[in-house]
Amino acid sequence: MAAVRYELIKECSQTKARVGRLHTPHGTFETPIFMPVGTQGTVKTMTPEEVRDLGAGIILSNTYHLYLRPGSDLVREAGGLHRFMNWPHGILTDSGGYQVFSLGPLRKITEEGVEFKSHIDGSKHFFTPEKSIQIQMDLGADIIMAFDECPPHPSEYDYVKKSLEMTTRWAKRCQAAHTREDQALFGITQGGMYADLRRESAARLVELDFPGYAIGGLSVGEPKPLMYEMLEATVPELPKEKARYLMGVGSPDALLEGVARGVDMFDCVLPTRVARNGLAFTTHGKVVIRNARYARDFERLDPECGCYTCQNYSRAYLRHLYKAEEILVYRLLTIHNLHILLKMMKEARKAIEEDRFLQFKREFLDKYGQEMD
Ligand code: GUN
Ligand code: ZN
Repeated sequence: MAAVRYELIKECSQTKARVGRLHTPHGTFETPIFMPVGTQGTVKTMTPEEVRDLGAGIILSNTYHLYLRPGSDLVREAGGLHRFMNWPHGILTDSGGYQVFSLGPLRKITEEGVEFKSHIDGSKHFFTPEKSIQIQMDLGADIIMAFDECPPHPSEYDYVKKSLEMTTRWAKRCQAAHTREDQALFGITQGGMYADLRRESAARLVELDFPGYAIGGLSVGEPKPLMYEMLEATVPELPKEKARYLMGVGSPDALLEGVARGVDMFDCVLPTRVARNGLAFTTHGKVVIRNARYARDFERLDPECGCYTCQNYSRAYLRHLYKAEEILVYRLLTIHNLHILLKMMKEARKAIEEDRFLQFKREFLDKYGQEMD
């Protein structure tokens, strides 16, 4: 049997939401799931035990960053990324496609691959689909991603069409290069903000028969309703019995809207990144902790949250730490934001199992508030 397998458990009767299980060599995870991001082999400010205790089963790490530093050969020598970073649970690595395309003028794209300059020391490198897969085999994650092009938003129709055709050819090259039986290689659908290209990209990748499919090229600056429309174009093309992964989405409202449209997996730097900028997601929306209004607010950060931070610290204290640039605040807000998202996903799974997801989503979003971008 395949090392990584998706098992569909229960479908919602009112939406496309579903509960499933993702079986991997490093554990079985209930979906829908949120994967915290550990770009450089660490979820910033957290120990692996803390991440685990917050309820995370699988984390995401990045080919691009680990290849440049410390080097994928070094990680392989250490026994692979799980052992190197002391995280014995699930790991998914992104292919580097998205990261090198984010470099803008530092990169050059051809059919063969992408030439780019390191953001660390300016040194020149060349990624091909084969090279990305080789690096990801060295890192040894449970799930690895095909090397794709993520077109910027907005992009012209013709550009996006040519780009998704190249991404499809690259996906095939990735499959040919991938030989590790204990990893699953997922394909990434693209198609910009064009519904017909979204459908075409998905259909072409499904022909290649991947064990799971990501939806890429979204959350790139478009309004959220447009992203939801693109999900509605993509998901129905994907096979029911395979996992679906929406890349780069992590705001509470977008997670629930994604789940309602049939997505099983999500990752995003948002909860951990904004935590380090003094922003907390609470059950009643965002709290910008540096605001003067919290200077003498001795209430808990989120009275309805059961996380370590909310059980022990006031908004006034967190604001003080933030203003004083004390390192502890980055940890405390990261703990809180991850707790909020991981707990919300747990409750969403329970709601789907009990066939009351639509009601759960409505109640959650009524409290939290909808965001359009
Ligand atoms: N992360 C967020 N979006 C994308 C995407 O389109 N491609 C890849 N490889 N990673 C992503
Ligand atoms: Zn909390």
